[in-house]
Amino acid sequence: GAAVEADISALKPGEKMTVEWRGKPVWIVKRTPEQLAGLKKTDAQVVDPNSERKPAELTPEYARNEYRSIKPEVLVVVGICSHLGCSPSDKFQAGAQPSLPDDWQGGFLCPCHGSTFDMAGRVFKNKPAPDNLEVPPHMYLSDTKLLIG
Ligand code: FES
Repeated sequence: GAAVEADISALKPGEKMTVEWRGKPVWIVKRTPEQLAGLKKTDAQVVDPNSERKPAELTPEYARNEYRSIKPEVLVVVGICSHLGCSPSDKFQAGAQPSLPDDWQGGFLCPCHGSTFDMAGRVFKNKPAPDNLEVPPHMYLSDTKLLIG
């Protein structure tokens, strides 16, 4: 399949951009230091904190780390829920997921059946989605240019 390039030079901390790859939306999110720190607090609440399940399908080797990314701040995930394929929305509020820390830094909420994902695309426990969001194959062509696919 055709790979796509993404220029992330204008992406600011806390922002997300979307590029299309093989007909799927790929989200590129520049996480803030607070959002990265927040991932440690959700480790115990997500199904697969270290992306060990279905690694070949869902998480390439180079993203099998605590941030699920090559550069800690830059998350690259396919924006399609691992349940039945809806597209989650940005930054749900703490009420959508019980027992979140007070300083919750946001994540993604699937509008179809309520699955919730943290800022690394890791699915929370007790939700219908079985797996984390897919990290597509990707690499950096330069500091600010990504090749997806
Ligand atoms: Fe996302 Fe069902 S499709 S929770």
